[in-house]
Amino acid sequence: MNLDKLKTTDGIDVKGKRVIVRADLNVPVRDGKVTDATRLERLLPGLNALADRGAKVIVISHFGRPKNGPEAEFSLRPIAETLQRLLGRTVAFSGDCIGAQAADTVAKLSDGGVAVLENLRFHKGEEKNDPAFAGELAKLGDIFVGDAFSCAHRAHASTEGLTHFLPSYAGPLLMEEINALRTALENPKRPTAAVVGGAKVSTKIPVLTNLVAKVDHLIIGGGMANTFLQAMGIAVGKSLAEPDFHSTARDIMTEAKQKGCEIVLPVDAVVATEFKEGAVHKVVTVSNVPADAMILDVGPQSVARTSALLEHTRTLLWNGPLGAFEIAPFGDGTFALARAAAALTKAGKLVSVAGGGDTVAALNSAGVTDDFTYVSTAGGAFLEWLEGRELPGVAALTR
Ligand code: 3PG
Ligand code: MG
Repeated sequence: MNLDKLKTTDGIDVKGKRVIVRADLNVPVRDGKVTDATRLERLLPGLNALADRGAKVIVISHFGRPKNGPEAEFSLRPIAETLQRLLGRTVAFSGDCIGAQAADTVAKLSDGGVAVLENLRFHKGEEKNDPAFAGELAKLGDIFVGDAFSCAHRAHASTEGLTHFLPSYAGPLLMEEINALRTALENPKRPTAAVVGGAKVSTKIPVLTNLVAKVDHLIIGGGMANTFLQAMGIAVGKSLAEPDFHSTARDIMTEAKQKGCEIVLPVDAVVATEFKEGAVHKVVTVSNVPADAMILDVGPQSVARTSALLEHTRTLLWNGPLGAFEIAPFGDGTFALARAAAALTKAGKLVSVAGGGDTVAALNSAGVTDDFTYVSTAGGAFLEWLEGRELPGVAALTR
């Protein structure tokens, strides 16, 4: 896959053309209301630009994981209404993404008009990447724009299949996401560091293995760090850990040594005997975790040491929280390090790129999202990129 082959619609005359945009409208919704519109907001400049250039903009997306055809709870209608409000333009809606209803909605669009089609996953052909279904979608457009980086790890009809039917381009948001990741991983200013947190080593083995070969310092936090500490013979009491992955952890440490990557583990921890908001807690060094306690956050010394390390770092990649950030006060370590990274970024000393579901929530809680160089809205796709894998929805756009 040659990423330099990605082309956008810049310089293409889209006036009067039907442009199908694969977006990611998969946003959190509660009681019919969008609770976090970040993904929609990021799409606005690209959609507005196409409409301003006179294209007929046809937005397609999945929402949730419906299993048996159309289900009201997975309808894109409320999300289309939110998009209409955010765009400040009328957004037409079709109750089906293919067939007569979709064709009719598209036929009624004037130049510069925008439509959203119902959830792609109401049809089995979407996730199966069925060419017949992709062909039905393709009938609705003249041009395809892939602008859902966060769905590009799926080889579905709307992310990969359509590119076999229509002239295909990369959308501006997808380009933005990829450029941020390339800045951090391909040709970064050194020294580089990665923060990898989260509960389990088992889910991030490929990420860790790929990163030790790429970055100068790998800062490990969260439940994963416990498995590493245990693998080094340190008792972690009742902490979340995966004894079955001790040898994996040791292999990663050996690999890191060979590749010249320093693995940075916590030196102190915030421990409690209960996993609950406001639980009685204390700070101990990692070699003094009581047998009946669990590690719920990194300690202040660990934060101070990693913050100092970041002072000498030029490029930082961040995925995953360092502790149980959803329950106070066990987010403090994550928040403090995030603030340090944000301050260095603001001062122009650090390029910081973050992504992955929990990561964005943690940075939002720390109030620093806007101060990072780039915060990706992608979850699974961001992780697969960190694993060094080729994403089918990106690869298809380079062909
Ligand atoms: C996401 O939210 O990560 C993307 O929209 C992909 O959704 P999926 O995991 O259901 O394919
Ligand atoms: Mg997901």
